[in-house]
Amino acid sequence: MLLAAGLLLMASAPPNAAAADTHRWLRKHRGQLIEQSFEADVDGRRITLLYELFLPNSCTGVNGAPMCNKAPVLVFLHGRGESGSYDVTNAQSLPWLLLKNDTFSRDFPFITAVPQCPSYCAEINEWDALVLRSISALVLQHLTSSPIGGDRARVYLSGQSMGGNGAWLYAAQQPHLFAAVGVVCGYTHGSAPIAKRLVASQTAVLVCHSADDSVIPVAASDEMVQALTNRGHPPSLLKFIRYEHAPGPPMPEFSSLVGHGSYELLFRDPAFYSWLLEHRLQNADTFTEWHSLPTH
Ligand SMILES: *[C@@H]1O[C@H](CO)[C@@H](O)[C@H](O)[C@H]1NC(C)=O
Repeated sequence: MLLAAGLLLMASAPPNAAAADTHRWLRKHRGQLIEQSFEADVDGRRITLLYELFLPNSCTGVNGAPMCNKAPVLVFLHGRGESGSYDVTNAQSLPWLLLKNDTFSRDFPFITAVPQCPSYCAEINEWDALVLRSISALVLQHLTSSPIGGDRARVYLSGQSMGGNGAWLYAAQQPHLFAAVGVVCGYTHGSAPIAKRLVASQTAVLVCHSADDSVIPVAASDEMVQALTNRGHPPSLLKFIRYEHAPGPPMPEFSSLVGHGSYELLFRDPAFYSWLLEHRLQNADTFTEWHSLPTH
């Protein structure tokens, strides 16, 4: 029902709507998370990707469609417990800030996509590669294409917890899609192949974790940073924010998971976004193919 409403909202401004209609539409939807869906073709398979879209205040519109004139794009991958619905996703971290903190959302410069991994992702405890690849289609064919027109050279990836694992896997398999990657309380099932790819692609990586994380041990991020460093990833392309303490998730039922909420600190920190924006892709129009990692 909510999804249908989301689609309807996008469709409610007809293709030839007068400029006034577009402005009314934008006034209502800028600064919100708008539920959307995108039909992607991944190797001949049709994938329906559900996602929430945030349009920054810099967007305007013509002919019933938002136009964001080279705004940067940020993809946010949620954690395991958020799979299959927006309830928990929107109750914390970056989505919460965008929805509930007007001061934050008013100045937030990124076209932001919050894709939803279906509930089976919680069962396999991983962002399915098909879902990740459908996000690539969304970015290339919609968010950085006309009319939205986000900046292809400034597409950024972030993810937390299972989404941090997803961000590592995603960036390693399609590094030239992203100008920089921010991985929060993430982990891998083997640091070496991922580090090898990211060093080869010279991808800027910010790693964030709290030493007191009671869900995902900080050792997982220590290992990735070490693996990247050992392979000679340049310091200008690697930043590690290692908090001593972080809160638990902000929902009362999860507050016992002390230290896991490093995302509550990082996504509030303007320095994180400045760091992302320091990086942009050279040759953004080439090398966007997906290269699967050997399966473990
Ligand atoms: C809301 O956002 C502003 C600007 O980023 C920040 O200073 C403030 O601490 C935030 N408030 C909450 C409750 O997150």
